[in-house]
Amino acid sequence: MKRKFLFGILVLSIFTISGFSHGTEKHDNDKKKVVQKKEQPLHDNLEKSLEIKKASKEKEIVLKNKYKKINKEYLQNIKPIFEAKCFNCHSNTTNYPFYYKIPGIKGMIDKDIKEAKKHIDFSKDFPFISHETPINDLKSLNKIGQEGGMPPLKYIIAHWDSKLSKKDKEAMIEWTKNAIELLGKD
Ligand code: HEC
Repeated sequence: MKRKFLFGILVLSIFTISGFSHGTEKHDNDKKKVVQKKEQPLHDNLEKSLEIKKASKEKEIVLKNKYKKINKEYLQNIKPIFEAKCFNCHSNTTNYPFYYKIPGIKGMIDKDIKEAKKHIDFSKDFPFISHETPINDLKSLNKIGQEGGMPPLKYIIAHWDSKLSKKDKEAMIEWTKNAIELLGKD
């Protein structure tokens, strides 16, 4: 009686184990089938994503060349103006005014320079270091060419950095207009 019982358990466990293993085998097959079915579209997708990657790489090169062209004109016509009238606040090369050391003034100027560079930093040429996109920077600079506003009036009054001349403004408008047009084209 006891033996039969043990044998029964043995048979039962063999069935159970083989049942399990059969189950996993079947599962594996299912998996393989799924993979095989998906293989074709997966390949297509891969090719498509490679194509997209190639296209975006080409776009990137076109954009870089446009930036280069814009920078070339910047270096020739605009940088000298900016060096004379903007770099004190918007770059790493600041020539401090003689009154910088007057108590209270230093803190104010330092704060303005920090703020100015946060907006736009001309230290590394075009495209500028900025929290805006290059095209938006160009639009801001175009606006300054049209309407003024930079350098800030209080510094012009305090004789640190001089106003943009009519000629400076015209050069800025011309450069930004051409650059915006070039970037606008695809
Ligand atoms: C004496 C310091 C100083 C000088 C010099 C100066 N800026 Fe600024 N600039 C600032 C400060 C401060 C800000 C941020 C606060 C503001 O917008 O007024 C700023 C912001 C800007 C901005 C971003 C805001 C906007 O108007 O869209 C641009 C672009 C800019 N300046 C361009 C110039 C140009 C171009 C020159 C030279 C012609 C120049 N700045 C000279 C202090 C200066």
